[in-house]
Amino acid sequence: MGNRTEIHDKVLNAKSLDDISEAYGIWAKSYDQDLLTELGYQAPARSVELLRKHLATGRVLDAGCGTGLVGQLLSTTGDFQLDGVDYSESMLAEAQSKQCYQNLQQVDLNQPLTHETASYDAVICIGTFTLGHVQPEALREMVRITKQGGVICFTVRDEFWLKSNFGKLLNELEQAGLTDTTELQTIDYILTEGSKCKLVLLTVL
Ligand SMILES: C[S@@+](CC[C@H](N)C(=O)[O-])C[C@H]1O[C@@H](n2cnc3c(N)ncnc32)[C@H](O)[C@@H]1O
Repeated sequence: MGNRTEIHDKVLNAKSLDDISEAYGIWAKSYDQDLLTELGYQAPARSVELLRKHLATGRVLDAGCGTGLVGQLLSTTGDFQLDGVDYSESMLAEAQSKQCYQNLQQVDLNQPLTHETASYDAVICIGTFTLGHVQPEALREMVRITKQGGVICFTVRDEFWLKSNFGKLLNELEQAGLTDTTELQTIDYILTEGSKCKLVLLTVL
């Protein structure tokens, strides 16, 4: 448990992309076993369940795909064409081995995306809006690349929600007529931590 807790602390305290690469480079091989089996990571299953309530088929970008836990769930429960982006090459290599993504690409989600405007039916971003990772503003690019009527499903760790400006940003997007906040729930995030997260689904207008 010592090592697992240590590496989890390391990713949440990342200060740079180099820190992200280094920490996930160490964690990638044991990530699925540690998070799902040992720590009780709830977010992927709950998020995929919510997305499937709103979307049956289509092109989906898994933003911060990590080892591909979300892609694996989506590919076994629906008819989706999946692409994935992440900054960590080690995590992308694990995602590649799951054989559920058409395209995988190394991308910094805190920068503008090169993806075409209105090109996805959905973006799903799980476990990636969290301490030391991706900033709320990245949501604007996710809105841009999603088709009208498409959806964006994401989690935000509660600690990060409180420290950041997600509430304000969601209001701004609504006021600008860009999105509707269709679902906003608080769910269990990691059972052994007792942590919670917001699970949000936006509809792009
Ligand atoms: C906790 S993992 C979540 C992975 C997967 N979505 C899941 O639920 O298992 C967070 C992921 O965010 C990625 N990440 C962190 N900062 C990033 C950035 N600036 N741009 C792209 N990916 C980033 C990490 O490499 C890592 O794979």
